[in-house]
Amino acid sequence: MSEKIRELISEEKVDARIREIGQQISRDYAGKTLHLICVLKGGVYFMCELSKRISVPVSLDFMSISSYGDDTKSSGVVKIVKDLDQPLEGKHVMIVEDIIDSGRTLGYLMEILKKRNPASLKLCTLLDKPDRRVVNSVETDYCCFEIPDEFVVGYGLDYAQKYRNLPYIGALDFEE
Ligand code: IMP
Ligand code: MG
Repeated sequence: MSEKIRELISEEKVDARIREIGQQISRDYAGKTLHLICVLKGGVYFMCELSKRISVPVSLDFMSISSYGDDTKSSGVVKIVKDLDQPLEGKHVMIVEDIIDSGRTLGYLMEILKKRNPASLKLCTLLDKPDRRVVNSVETDYCCFEIPDEFVVGYGLDYAQKYRNLPYIGALDFEE
C-alpha cells in the first residue's frame, strides 16, 4: 500500500486564517498577558505561527501527552510524557492544539490543568473534527477550521511521525 496526500487546505488559507484568529485573540485579551501551552509535537507549528500574530504579551510553555501511537485511531490511553515547566496559578492560559478528534486527550488535559488554578483556561485548535467527538465536555474557544472525518497531515500533524513539515493541510489516502 502506498500513501497519497491530497491538499485539503492550502498554505495561503491556513496562514490567512491564523492571522485572523490571532487578531481575534489579541482583541479578546486586550490588557492581559496570555500564557500559551503547546501540546507537543503536533501543536508546535501552529503555536509558532499563532503566537506571532498575537499582539498582547505572550509567554509559552510546552507539554507532551500521548494519545496516539503510529496508528490512525485514538487509543483512549492518555499519559503525561513531559509536564509544563511553569505553574499556571493566576495566569490566563490557552491550550494550543493541532486537532480535536474524539476529545479524549483534551478532556483529560483540561481537567488536570483546571486543578492548577489558572485565572482562565481556553482552548485554541487549528483543526476540529466535530463528527468524531466522544467527550462532549470539550468545546473549542477558537478554531481555525472544522474538517470532515478524514485523517489529515501537515502543519504539525503526522502519520507515523511523517509529514509534519508540510506547509499545508492534506488528507491521507491509501492506495493498493
Ligand atoms: P483525540 O484524543 O481523539 O481528540 O486525539 C487528539 C490527538 O490525536 C491529536 O492531538 C493528534 O495528535 C491526533 N490526531 C487526531 N486526528 C488526527 C489526524 O487526522 N491526523 C493526525 N493526527 C490526528
Ligand atoms: Mg495533538
